[in-house]
Formats: sequence, C-alpha cells, structure tokens
Amino acid sequence: MKYDVTVIGSGPGGYVAAIRCAQLGMKTAIIEKYNSLGGTCLNVGCIPSKALLDSSEHFYNAKNHFKEHGIELTNLKVNLRQMIKRKAEVVKQTVGGIDYLMKKNKIDVFHGLGSFIDKNTISVAGEKEAHKIETEKIIIATGSKAANLPFIKLDKKHIITSTEALELTKVPKHLIVIGGGVIGVELGSVYARLGAKVSVVEFLDNLIPTMDKTMGKELQKVLKKSGFDFYLKHKVTAVEAKGNNVKVTTENSKGESVELNGDYCLVSIGRKPNTEGLGLEHVGLVTNKQGQIEVDDHLKTSADNIYAIGDVVKGAMLAHKAEEEGVFVAETIAGQKPHINYLLIPGVVYTWPEVASVGYTEEQLKENETPYKIGSFPFKASGRARASMDTDGLIKVLAHKETDEILGVHMIGPRAADMIAEAVVAMEYRASAEDIARMSHAHPTFTEAFKEACLDATDNRALHI
Ligand code: FAD
Ligand code: NAI
Repeated sequence: MKYDVTVIGSGPGGYVAAIRCAQLGMKTAIIEKYNSLGGTCLNVGCIPSKALLDSSEHFYNAKNHFKEHGIELTNLKVNLRQMIKRKAEVVKQTVGGIDYLMKKNKIDVFHGLGSFIDKNTISVAGEKEAHKIETEKIIIATGSKAANLPFIKLDKKHIITSTEALELTKVPKHLIVIGGGVIGVELGSVYARLGAKVSVVEFLDNLIPTMDKTMGKELQKVLKKSGFDFYLKHKVTAVEAKGNNVKVTTENSKGESVELNGDYCLVSIGRKPNTEGLGLEHVGLVTNKQGQIEVDDHLKTSADNIYAIGDVVKGAMLAHKAEEEGVFVAETIAGQKPHINYLLIPGVVYTWPEVASVGYTEEQLKENETPYKIGSFPFKASGRARASMDTDGLIKVLAHKETDEILGVHMIGPRAADMIAEAVVAMEYRASAEDIARMSHAHPTFTEAFKEACLDATDNRALHI
C-alpha cells in the first residue's frame, strides 16, 4: 500500500491532520494502536472528563442550590454506575463520529502499533493483522501519557492516574490529589461534588500555576467551599497503599513532615510525550530532555519528510492546539503558507466556575516590562449572574498602557469556557479595550462582564460597579 501521507496516532492532532490532508487531495492513511479512534481526548481525556463534570455538577446543584430556586427533592442520591455508563455512551458516540469522518474522507484506517522501518516505510503490528505501509510524508501525532514520580508505584486501584479516575466504582471518602493543575482541579471537582473530601497537594504556591495568578487564587477560594483542602508549597516524599488506605507523606515549606491518609490518590503532575515503540532510531530522530520530538517552525523534524504535532512536541498540551497543528502541517505539505498564533490559543479549566484565559498573564507582562493597565469586573455585579446564582469570580482584562490594545484576558466565572472566544476574536483583530467597551452586548448575559471589564480598563469607565 502506498500513500501520500500517513498519520501515526488518531487523537485530535492526528485525525484532524488526516481529514485536512484528504480534503487537499492527498491519499491518506492513519494508524492507531488502540481499537478506538480519537486518542486521549475522546477516550480518556477531554470528553469523558467533561461528561462526568456535567453529571456531578447537576448533582451538586440539586443538592445545594435547587431548594433556593424553589425546587424540592427528596431521596436524592448518586448512582455512580449510571453516571459512568452515560460517560461511556458519550465517548462511544463521539468516537463513532471519527469512524464516520474517516470513511467520509476516504482515509484508510489501520489498527496496531505504528513503527518506523525507514523514512518511507512504517510497519503496523495489530492484534489480528500486520501491514507494511509505503508513504511519501509522515505526521507523528502519538500524543502523551500521564507522568509519574519515580518513587510512586501506580497500582491503578488506589493509586491512580486520570484514566482510572474516570472509571471509579465508588465515590472516594477522601481523595488525595497530587498536583493542583488542570486535571487535579477538574477530576477533584467531580468527586468533591459527589461528596468526597478532596485534598490537593501542590508543589508551588498557587493552583493552575500556568495561568494568571489571580485565577488560581480565586479558584482556590471557590473550591474550598465545595469540600476541597489545599496543601500548597508541599512536596510529596512518599506514597504507599495498604489495603484500602493510601498514605501520602509530604514536606511543607518549613521542612516539616505532613501525612495524609485517604482511600484514593490521584497522581496528576503533568503528562509526558509518547514515543514508545515508534522506532524513531530507524529514521535518525531523537527526543529532547522533556521526551518531546524536536520540530522547526514548520513542525518538521530533522527528517525531511517527517512532521510531528500535538502533545508529542513542545507547547501547551491541549486538544485544540493539536488540531491547529494538524491543519497547519497538512496545508504546509500541500504547499500552502499557514500560520498559527500560539499566543492566542485559549486555555480553559472546566471547574465551576470555569476558568478561561488567552494572551499574556500579568506576571508575563511584568517580566517583559510591558506597560499595562488592568480592568476588571466581578460577577457579583452582573444581573445575569445573580439570576442564575453564579456570582463567584471575575473578568480581568490586561491592556497596553499607551495603546489600549488588549494583551490578555483572564476569566473565572459562569460559562467562561465559551465566553473566552470573544476575547480571542478581539485579540486576533488587535482590538483595544475601548473597541470592546463600545460594542453592544446583549442584556442580560454573562458577556456584559467582559464589556464592563473593558470599560474599566478604558479610564475606569465601568457602568455597573
Ligand atoms: P492524543 O490524543 O494523546 O492521541 C495520540 C494517539 O496516538 C493515541 O490514540 C495513541 O494510542 C496513539 N499512538 C501512540 N503511539 C502510537 C503508535 N506507535 N502507533 C499507533 N498509534 C499510536 N485538552 C483540551 O484541550 N481540553 C480538555 O478539556 C482536556 N481535557 C483533558 C482531560 C484529561 C483527563 C486528559 C488526560 C487530557 C485532557 N486534555 C484536554 C488534553 C488533550 O487530551 C490532549 O492535549 C490531546 O488529546 C492531544 O492530542 P494528540 O493528538 O497530540 O494526542
Ligand atoms: P498540569 O501541568 O496542568 O499540572 C500539574 C501540577 O502538578 C502543576 O501545578 C505542578 O506544579 C504540580 N506538580 C508537579 N510535580 C509535583 C510534585 N512532585 N508534587 C506536587 N505537585 C507537583 O498537569 P495535569 O493536571 O496532569 O494535566 C496534564 C495536561 O493535560 C496539562 O498540560 C493540560 O494542558 C492537559 N489537560 C487539559 C485540560 C483542559 O484543557 N481543560 C483538562 C485536563 C488536562
């Protein structure tokens, strides 16, 4: 079999690259080592975690907020088995959608481990069949897997990664989370809402530390109200499972030992690129210190016909970043001149309230010595937020002190995940804070808070505070 392009890995990077290649007229193959397409994102990442976040939020609201809305329930209880079953259905439907898209675009799908024989030949070792694929170009999109600390033995029963956390059969009594990043606060939220006590051990002094510091601080305040405890500036030194108990030993900033005991420990300290079994050595490729495949500005590796995208290369480990890179490489191969503005790839944390961010953080502007001004608006001053009882959080707009150009937007609040799109569009068109401040925003909507934060950035002209 001979192809113009072969993609290794069917996550959001790989399957989108394959579709764009096919759209551009290339004969395309995709190789996936698992039986189901869609990669981490669809099978054990974005989609299942959001399904459980939605279900658990319904329960939390029914338990804690319905009464105030005038809705009374008796005998409210969690059926975790059903919750997990629904999540599995959502995954199945979403993955089925990718099968359909591959067929629609006439992309040949091979299931099995893809491994380089040479720079134009890949072997596919599947459960039932083996293939040798001849190909002009190759796109590596093999993604990432959970990282671990060398002294932690993941038994995958009580000491678990995000993958097992999406499949628990009972609600933990006490879930200890190592790492206060995105996975820690999202999956911690799922179980806190269902009644677990959740303790987060974080090495740094702030949650979700890659985001603007205000976001982590606000998120911590809100999560505290829903059953979270935080051990910031704590270093984990040992994790040990005995029967149903997991003992996590940590060291605080004073050098004192702090011991936590729970029934589950979720290790969520980041992810590492996946290159195992790829046979990179057969095409002269090596990985860097972080385990990533090195690429140039065109996402090309040191081998002329091989590209790499998504979690396996540098940059944010996000599905939409991988997708943009998939399109970018397909168009580059087709001779086009695409562009990705990495600064404007938004980041979202699907807690409630949601956190969403784009552009520079205040810390980065300080470090770059960029003159800036801040506009902000709290949701407690929003009529829409009061109507829905979602008054926690704020929107923070960072604009250039002299030109008024928006440089960064950071939101924690209701539906921030969707609202951030307006900030991305504004920044893509290099809008000033006043540009947004002068645009009509429907009333009552959460988006009015963005307009108000922009008004605040424009000479403190916010109207409703
Ligand atoms: P992946 O999705 O990891 O796909 C790589 C694929 O390659 C896998 O299917 C793998 O089996 C296959 N593969 C690997 N090696 C081989 C080989 N040798 N041969 C054949 N196949 C191979 N991101 C977001 O943007 N939003 C979210 O809400 C979000 N939530 C997440 C929640 C969780 C719990 C996790 C773990 C991640 C989440 N992410 C989220 C991150 C997101 O899943 C990744 O950034 C994204 O999946 C990366 O896409 P990718 O195509 O690079 O790799
Ligand atoms: P992360 O990088 O978001 O967070 C890891 C956290 O662990 C950091 O706060 C770090 O300081 C801390 N940490 C590291 N070593 C530690 C140690 N020894 N002790 C205590 N704390 C330690 O990684 P996470 O949460 O595992 O997620 C992995 C990736 O998946 C992220 O890069 C993220 O982009 C992606 N993801 C994205 C989601 C989204 O977009 N909503 C949801 C879930 C994951």
